[in-house]
Amino acid sequence: MSKSSSSSGGQKMWGGRFASTPDNTMQAINASIDIDRRLWREDIEGSKAHAEMLAAQGIITREDNAAIQAGLDKIAAEIIDGSFPFSTELEDIHLNIEARLTERIGEAGKRLHTARSRNDQVATDFKLWTMRASREAADGLRALQKALVARADEHSDWIMPGFTHLQAAQPITLGHHLLAYVNMFERDRVRIIGGALEAAWECPLGAAALAGTSFKINRDMTADALGFHAPASNSLDAVASRDFALAALANLAIAATHLSRLAEEIVLWTSPQFGFARLSDAWSTGSSIMPQKRNPDAAELIRAKAARIGADFAALSAIVQKLPLAYAKDLQEDKALTFNAADSFALSVAAMIGMVETMGFNRAAMREAATRGYSTATDLADWLVRELKTPFREAHDITGRIVRRAEDSGVTELAHLPLGEFQAVEPRITDAARASLTVEKSVESRDSYGGTAPERVREQITRWKENFE
Ligand code: ARG
Repeated sequence: MSKSSSSSGGQKMWGGRFASTPDNTMQAINASIDIDRRLWREDIEGSKAHAEMLAAQGIITREDNAAIQAGLDKIAAEIIDGSFPFSTELEDIHLNIEARLTERIGEAGKRLHTARSRNDQVATDFKLWTMRASREAADGLRALQKALVARADEHSDWIMPGFTHLQAAQPITLGHHLLAYVNMFERDRVRIIGGALEAAWECPLGAAALAGTSFKINRDMTADALGFHAPASNSLDAVASRDFALAALANLAIAATHLSRLAEEIVLWTSPQFGFARLSDAWSTGSSIMPQKRNPDAAELIRAKAARIGADFAALSAIVQKLPLAYAKDLQEDKALTFNAADSFALSVAAMIGMVETMGFNRAAMREAATRGYSTATDLADWLVRELKTPFREAHDITGRIVRRAEDSGVTELAHLPLGEFQAVEPRITDAARASLTVEKSVESRDSYGGTAPERVREQITRWKENFE
């Protein structure tokens, strides 16, 4: 299937010890450049900090450092303008950049890798990338929260059914429902930022291959230049560990779980059976055969992507858990998983913002659904407890009997049941009690802190808006 390749791209970086070049398939399984080229910014940043430090410590000359800095800047420009010659033979982004540097500046380029290994290099690059991606994910969630709060503000007193077991339980307000997600995304955001802060604690650079280095390097200098709090205090841990990526993946997976639940609600709400909401044309897709369809594909894909993000976490965990210390090539597969999760997450958040901002709600349909299923029965039981001092269990039973009478007489809403039907079960029930069984009165009455009453919802909207400033 594959022949031994005759290396046309010159000596392998590690070629000194080998008489022949790798098999083509060996090269194919080993190369990661198609994936890890995305680390180029971090790789250049890390190399620049490393070279500055080597020069400051007198390990390389100032002239060599100047050549390295200028060379790396030119390489960055080449990568940006698309002229950088990426090569699979050079395996990964680290060797690609280093080889190109030497091609451009000669001898000095060959000194860059002093007191460093690809093991501490990749751990540093990837950590920097993951920290950045986490901050971007947190920013995305903030934007989504703002979109949700804006919609909640417009719909703070629109009534809809609140569900348990997907059965109408009690009436709630749409504003309240939307704000529930704002709370979830706030915890997600805090978790994701926390993961990035934890990752920033220790800088792997200077751990070298696994044991540190005999050169008199200054690890505080590179840690500081790269925005870390301190150099990693154990070189084995520094090159072997990927829990910063695991934490980022776990945090994204949890947040994606919440995105997926909201997506699921959008799928339900926009179905003709619910009819609570309608996605704008920009966020609906048609069917190639059924002209009437308006499908919520983006919401469905958000659900599916959440599953894949969770699987990315599971896969990386499975990769790392069986590895003896320190580095093993298995760890190279960490990037594809993390990149997929970060990309899928960013796209899901952006799509969710688009849907949330432009979705229309059907006030009448939601209200009508809220009245179904005798959703204000609890309000009647509460009235019996409050006004007649009936023990709650008894009130529950009385109300149940009244609901049965309503059902038997074909009345779908307790507020519409004649007073006589109530009084046949409990003669002390008044017309005022009956009148309080509308969905509007019901939500207004649930004004405990954090409850669904429009007044409480507006209180939370104000709190969120202050929080966003
Ligand atoms: N491309 C490798 C990775 O992503 C870089 C580290 C290679 N180290 C080694 N000893 N082969 O893990």
